Amino acid sequence: MHTPSSNLVGWGYYAPERVVTNDDLAQVMDTSDEWIRTRSGIRERRYASDGVHTSTMSIAAAQQALEKANLSADDLDLILISSSSPDYLTPPVSSQVQHGLGASCGAMQIVVGCTGFVYALVTAQQFIATGAYQTILVVGAELISRWLNFEDRSTAVLFGDGAGAVILQATEEKCGVLGHVLGSDGAGAEHIIVPAGGIAEPPSAENVAAGRTSIKMNGREVFKFATRVMGRALMEALSQAQLSPDDIDLFIPHQANARIIEYAAQQLNLPMDKVVVNVDRYGNTSAASVPLALCEALDAGRVRPGDTLALVAFGAGLTWAAAIFQLGLHIPALQTTTEEEIFSA
Ligand code: UT7
Repeated sequence: MHTPSSNLVGWGYYAPERVVTNDDLAQVMDTSDEWIRTRSGIRERRYASDGVHTSTMSIAAAQQALEKANLSADDLDLILISSSSPDYLTPPVSSQVQHGLGASCGAMQIVVGCTGFVYALVTAQQFIATGAYQTILVVGAELISRWLNFEDRSTAVLFGDGAGAVILQATEEKCGVLGHVLGSDGAGAEHIIVPAGGIAEPPSAENVAAGRTSIKMNGREVFKFATRVMGRALMEALSQAQLSPDDIDLFIPHQANARIIEYAAQQLNLPMDKVVVNVDRYGNTSAASVPLALCEALDAGRVRPGDTLALVAFGAGLTWAAAIFQLGLHIPALQTTTEEEIFSA
């Protein structure tokens, strides 16, 4: 029997309205626009306003994705939300999103740091390939600004908030995830960590005051790790798909640092016009970064039906993941976008 593939039929994203520039941060900590731009490529990021949560951002992105796919929440068979900054430690944010959308299917939260969306996408594909489910919503959403310690300039300047969503639907056509790698090395756990607030160190007035309930990162170590794993993971995923770097139409890497992205593109010998970079406008939005970049590329008409995308991410764990994802030939929402673009040009 033919194994069903996954077609990407809808997408949507939510970027909070509040723009925080490097100069804004330089008003509250000892940093500068020059340092942030040259070290990371970031110019500005978005911070969610009061009243906006990871669940609300996810719902907004998911509603757009449903609309683009011309589907309703009732059509969903499964909801996967990748987030490391859920509204609560428990309940899982996935159930809040299921309820908010008015869906009645199962829902789960996938917590794999910045790598979460690629893990979730690959997981969705497995449920579709087995024939268990037909239509799956996959979201990456993070609200990290409320977790930042503004006395720790080395980490605080890098992160931002946002959400991106896609809908995968079963099809007979050969497309979807053609090759993937999921990696984890817990030996590097301390390099990206929120030390307190969990079971190992429950929250207390002392650890809150000491900034231990905020995110801490050893940027230099993560930088070295990222440059080590990205190219290797992509080559492995490409070889599984029986493809080479020349077959990649668009490279959509995790948006943590422009220098890391450029290094990975060089390793694959990919020209920068085949690489999506929006880290300058959003900073590092963790699990939201790959879907935000993917959605923007789809909206901008940078992606055509049948294109081969290379997605790669790395982050807390330490973890990494790569997926070679081919779009189907029949994506009504993409055709509409492209025609609109042509007529408005
Ligand atoms: O999604 C999770 C994945 N995370 C990442 O991918 C992050 C990966 N790492 C990075 O992107 C880079 O390592 C950073 C952008 C975080 C830092 O760049 P770097 O070139 O590795 O700088 P560094 O950490 O080696 O720091 C260099 C200097 C230090 O001063 P000294 O010790 O040389 O005097 C820092 O204290 O820059 C100083 N510094 C800052 N200066 C101004 C650190 N943060 C800041 C800041 N503003 N915000």
